[in-house]
Amino acid sequence: MNFAFTSGELAELGAENLCDHDSVAVPPLWATVSTVPFKGAGRPHCRALRGTQVGVPPHPSEWNLGLLPIPPIPYPLRLGHMASIPQLTLNDGHHIPQLGYGVFRVPPADTERAVFEALEVGYRHIDTAAIYGNEEGVGAAIAASGIRRSDLFITTKLWNNRHDGDAPHAAIAESLDKLRLAQVDLYLVHWPTPAADNYVHAWQKMIEIRDAGLARSIGVSNHLVPHLERIVSETGVTPAVDQIELHPAHQQREVTDWAVASGVAIEAWGPLGQGKYDLFGAAPVAAAARAHGKTPAQAVLRWHLQKGFIVFPKSVRRERLEENLDVFDFDLSDDQIAAIDAMDPGDGSGRVSAHPDEVH
Ligand SMILES: NC(=O)c1ccc[n+]([C@@H]2O[C@H](COP(=O)([O-])OP(=O)(O)OC[C@H]3O[C@@H](n4cnc5c(N)ncnc54)[C@H](OP(=O)(O)O)[C@@H]3O)[C@@H](O)[C@H]2O)c1
Repeated sequence: MNFAFTSGELAELGAENLCDHDSVAVPPLWATVSTVPFKGAGRPHCRALRGTQVGVPPHPSEWNLGLLPIPPIPYPLRLGHMASIPQLTLNDGHHIPQLGYGVFRVPPADTERAVFEALEVGYRHIDTAAIYGNEEGVGAAIAASGIRRSDLFITTKLWNNRHDGDAPHAAIAESLDKLRLAQVDLYLVHWPTPAADNYVHAWQKMIEIRDAGLARSIGVSNHLVPHLERIVSETGVTPAVDQIELHPAHQQREVTDWAVASGVAIEAWGPLGQGKYDLFGAAPVAAAARAHGKTPAQAVLRWHLQKGFIVFPKSVRRERLEENLDVFDFDLSDDQIAAIDAMDPGDGSGRVSAHPDEVH
């Protein structure tokens, strides 16, 4: 099987990272088409590329060079698609795509397919963690995608039993190996586990990991204001992000207010409430969705984006991957945002996971 790409697509994909199989001749009609060696034709991503027809191939009379029809790459991999996902600037000057794809509870055996599909659909930001057990699948999908490393934003996390001594250094080495990367874009302390009283040490190790170039940005997850204040005051280094449970029923205003005042970006995990309560049937969500001809999930994701939160909804279904990305062509009104703001009971009862002080 032969493939050809326009020079712009080649630049986007990084030809040297693609699979190698055959070289292709350049059909005369396609003066701008370049040839590219195509590796590993039997691998899943190659099959995926093969199945997709985008654009108009040259008339067969123009490519009688023994070539098969040339299917251009699927549209999400085409030049310019990333422009539709906003990038936020972190307090260390690096950028992060505001919408990504999270892989919590994506089974390890399914992860390469799911992440490859997400990349195909257009996601460029992947959120995983050592404890999810699926970093290998993320790494395999990244390698298979042929997408330039600089176009991807990859996050992983330090698990709770690796805070002591030099364990964080061993943990990041293992994660990078599984992800097949030299550096992650963001490395997070997954939970503070305050009962062990070791999260300041873990944060100091994260600073070393960043300084060693193994993580471009560092941050924390599930840290509440007392944890945040302590790591900042004891190390002098403010995390780039805090990734916390956040959705309409649990808006964590104390943490978000602190983060805004301190220049820390908020990543909202469980942005769809993990499907654990009837978020989509709630009147403010349903009304906002109806008003814009969108699904309730899209209305909720739009609420997050307009509040300035970073989100990475998880789904193992391609149609939902597409649905969750299709949130950049409408704006909720101030009233619609205020109605969703009012959904938090304010007493913590909307939380779908454990309180961070109770996670060990
Ligand atoms: N730092 C932490 O402690 C922490 C904790 C939890 C999660 N996270 C991160 O945050 C990411 C997202 O959170 P999450 O996975 O817990 O929950 P979530 O994204 O809020 O919800 C995922 C659930 O919603 C369903 N879903 C997805 N899109 C949908 C749509 N358009 N319509 C209806 N249902 C939809 C999924 O089902 P299907 O898969 O069947 O579509 C799945 O059951 C995780 O994957 C992980 O990366 C971090």
